[in-house]
Parts: sequence; structure tokens; C-alpha cells
Amino acid sequence: MIPLKRRKISHTESHQNESCKFPHVPIFILERKMGASRRSFLTRLARSKGFLIKEAYSSAVTHVVSENNSGDEVQSWLENQTGVDTSTSVHLLDVSWFTESMAAGRPVTVQDKHRLKVNPKCNGDDNVILMKSYACQRRTPLKHHNLFLTEALELLAENAEFSENEGRSVAFRRAASVLKALPHRVHSMDELKSLPCLGEHSQRVIKEILEDGTSREVESTRQSEQFQAMKALTGIFGVGVRTADRWFRKGLRSPTDLIRMGQPLNRAQQAGVQYYDDLQKPVTKAEADVISDIVQQAVCAVLPGAEIQLMGGFRRGKEFGHDVDFLITHPEEGKEEGLMAKIIKWLEERGLLLYQKTTRNSYLEKMDGPARPPNNMDRFERCFSIFKLQISDRSTGSHAERSVSQSETLSWRAVRIDLVVSPYCQFAFATLGWTGSKLFERELRRWAGQEKHMSLSSHALYDNNQKHYLRAQTEEEIFAYLGLEFIPPSERNA
Ligand code: CTP
Ligand code: MN
Ligand code: MN
Repeated sequence: MIPLKRRKISHTESHQNESCKFPHVPIFILERKMGASRRSFLTRLARSKGFLIKEAYSSAVTHVVSENNSGDEVQSWLENQTGVDTSTSVHLLDVSWFTESMAAGRPVTVQDKHRLKVNPKCNGDDNVILMKSYACQRRTPLKHHNLFLTEALELLAENAEFSENEGRSVAFRRAASVLKALPHRVHSMDELKSLPCLGEHSQRVIKEILEDGTSREVESTRQSEQFQAMKALTGIFGVGVRTADRWFRKGLRSPTDLIRMGQPLNRAQQAGVQYYDDLQKPVTKAEADVISDIVQQAVCAVLPGAEIQLMGGFRRGKEFGHDVDFLITHPEEGKEEGLMAKIIKWLEERGLLLYQKTTRNSYLEKMDGPARPPNNMDRFERCFSIFKLQISDRSTGSHAERSVSQSETLSWRAVRIDLVVSPYCQFAFATLGWTGSKLFERELRRWAGQEKHMSLSSHALYDNNQKHYLRAQTEEEIFAYLGLEFIPPSERNA
């Protein structure tokens, strides 16, 4: 609904920005009870004096001006518009603040006499939870209270991905994510009334689970041949939704079907099928730590001073993952060039890689401009690989085996690892972009674009208003640019 209008608006606003003297006081004038013509008169007047007037309300707005409205009326109007709680973030002001500011030729200090009085919400419900609507505005811990609901919604999200219905999939994921951020278990639909992002379909599923213990739609999806086959096939390393769907239509259902039917496979898929069972097994934090030590050793050996950081789910505090993600850099800009090839060589020489495919860095700020790369893939030098992890059999081996060899026998398992090399000046952005969760990242980019008129990627942050890149050394600085409270990795499990 918004895009067309938004484009028009940002056009006038960006025109205006050139003459704007007070960009830090974005004002929204409420049309309600004021009427369109008075509003547009006030808008023109203010802009001519260098004030920043926003056409549409967004959380970028700091001052809301209205006439003949009570504070409660303005607040509920804003909340209906945005689903965002406005009580703490914005000044709700009478037009008197506006007139005084016009007379002074600058935004005057907000005083009590300017403020509209807002009554504390008292709908008899003390435990109404104020939930922000973007996942990047909320804290989402790893362990939460509503797994019985989120597991169901995420299964529907996954199923929507299998039919390439991205909108539907994101809607289910957002709904699940809201429930993950709740501080308690949901018992009744009443408790959900004030929550954002719960669409009609998600609510129907939740209601059914609350009432009957299970949802028919979820269970029939879970049992369906198509869902199970798509899950098995996309679970193969190197196989995406498109390929899996094509194979499903040919009657293939599982990795064994691929072998049995002699399905031609590319190199990645061959490795995926070969190590399928291992790669299906979750990677433990302990295993991730062992691999970290080895990769660290490789990195130090080939480029002293290089830094390596564990990313993805393990950085968010997960105890298990589907892979291990690493980000590597060197404090001296440029030193990181060619680093990936050297690391891979070091690992390969020691027989530690079962498969690897490196893609070159293709990000160039000037050429690529601010927009994010197509399909959100960032373009660092990166390596998707399968690691051969030696496991000492001390804990798992049988007594018989041990008595034979006396010393411990060695076996191994395959583990997916992702390596990314980033130039130092992009390290903070890469860190933020590779910590996840995927939904958290997605919401950060949506927030940046829709609320701040900025473009965020794993390389950079570009301010479309000021038309320049914003530099950052830390994740904290990026959150600050975005006007967001800093959320630590352990609470980005959206
Ligand atoms: N990522 C990315 N581009 C990709 C794949 C992943 O930018 N092509 C980012 C994701 O946005 C995420 C991080 O890399 O922030 C880790 O992705 P992934 O390993 O898939 O997920 P995890 O959160 O680590 O979950 P898991 O424990 O299952 O690995
Ligand atoms: Mn991961
Ligand atoms: Mn990964």
C-alpha cells in the first residue's frame, strides 16, 4: 500500500532537505480536525523557514503537531497508523509550539504548556504488553515461552518458502518472532490483542492450537508428501528450492532417490549427498570451538595479526547449529586481500576440507552504489565448505575398540563451515550482517529503508537523505545511526 505514495513523498522531502535548517527535528502535522488546506498552509510556511516537515508519520518523526485534538486522540491515531507505541519516543504537541517556533524562526524548546496530556492507558488490563513492530526494535532471547506456537508458524513459513511465496513466509516468521519476544506463555487469544504482526492467518492457527492443542493445517502440512520431500531435498547441501521442486515433479523424494535414479549432480550436490547424514546432524558448540581453534591456527599461520570471529547462530548463543560461520579480517586495510586462498590452501594441505568453493569479493562502493546487492547476497570473498572434523573416540567408541588399540581411535564427521573475509573498514557491517538471525537482519534492512531512508548491507550504511555513506567501527555505532537501541547478539534470535 505504501510504496507509490512513499516515492512521491520522498521526492518532495528530498527537495526540501536541501534548504532544511533543522534536520534533527522531523515534524509531522496531523491533518485530523485541522483539515488538508490548513495543514498544507502550515507545511509550506514551516518549510519556507527551513523546518523539516514529514508528509507521512514514521518513527523518524520526533515532534507531532496537532490542533483541537486531545493527547489520547493523537496517540491512538498514531498507534492505529503504525502499530508502534509512541508514548516514549515522540513529543505530542499543541499547535502553540508550532506557532511559537515559526515566530522564533527555530524549533523552540518543548515546555509543559505545549504538551498534549496523555492519560496512562487504563483498560483494566495491567499486563498489556507494549511490543514494537520491527524485530530489530525488540529483544528476542534464544529460549522463549511459546515454542509450541512458533514451531507451528515456522513450519508454515518453511512450507511457503518451498512454494516460493516469500510474502507469506515472512508474515509467518514475523508472527512467530513476536511470540518469541513475549515474556510469558500465551494462554488465550485475549493476550494477543495489542501485539503487532499477527495476521489473520497466523491468529487462526494460534487459536486452533490454544483450543485444540494442534492445528489441522500445520499437521497436514507436516505429513504431506510434498513438504517432507522438499525438506529432505533442500536439506542437501547445494540444493535450493527451485532444484528441489524440479526433482519433486520428476518423482524424486530423497537423497537415496537421487542416487538410485542416477540424477546428474553438480560438485556441491555430490558432496551434499555424500555427506548427507553427517550434515543433517546438528553441530554442537563444542565442535564449533574445536573447528574455531583450527581455523584460527590457519589464519595466524598464513597472515599474522589477522582476526577471526565466530558468527551466525553460535555468536547468538546457540548450543547447536547447522553450520559454523567465521568472519576474518586484518586491521591493516588491504592485508586481507588474497587471504582466503591462503587459508584454504593451509586447510587443504592438512586434509581438513572435504569440499570447498570460494567466491571472489565483488563489492565496490563506487560502482555498486548504495543499493543492496541483488537477492541480498553480500559480496565478500567467501567460502562455502565442508570440514573434516576429527573426533576422538574416547567418549563414543565401544570398549572393544578401545581395548584393541589401547590409545584412542580416531574417526571423523563432516561439518558445514562458512568463511567470510572482510576489509577492516567494513568489519562492523559484516559483523552485524553475519550475526543474524535471518529475520533480524531482514528487519534491520526494512527499518533502515522505511523508517530512516537509509540502505543497510553487510558492507555499508548509506544515508539516502544526506547522500553519503556512514562510517562505523562498531555494531553499536550502526545501531545509533539507525536510531535503534543496541541489541546484543544473544537477543537477536528473532
Ligand atoms: N547469510 C548471508 N548470506 C547468505 C547466507 C547467510 O548474509 N547467503 C547471513 C545470514 O543473514 C545470517 C548469517 O549469515 O546472519 C548466518 O547464516 P546461517 O549460517 O544460515 O544461519 P545461523 O543463524 O547461523 O543458523 P544456524 O545455526 O542454523 O547455522
Ligand atoms: Mn550458521
Ligand atoms: Mn552459514
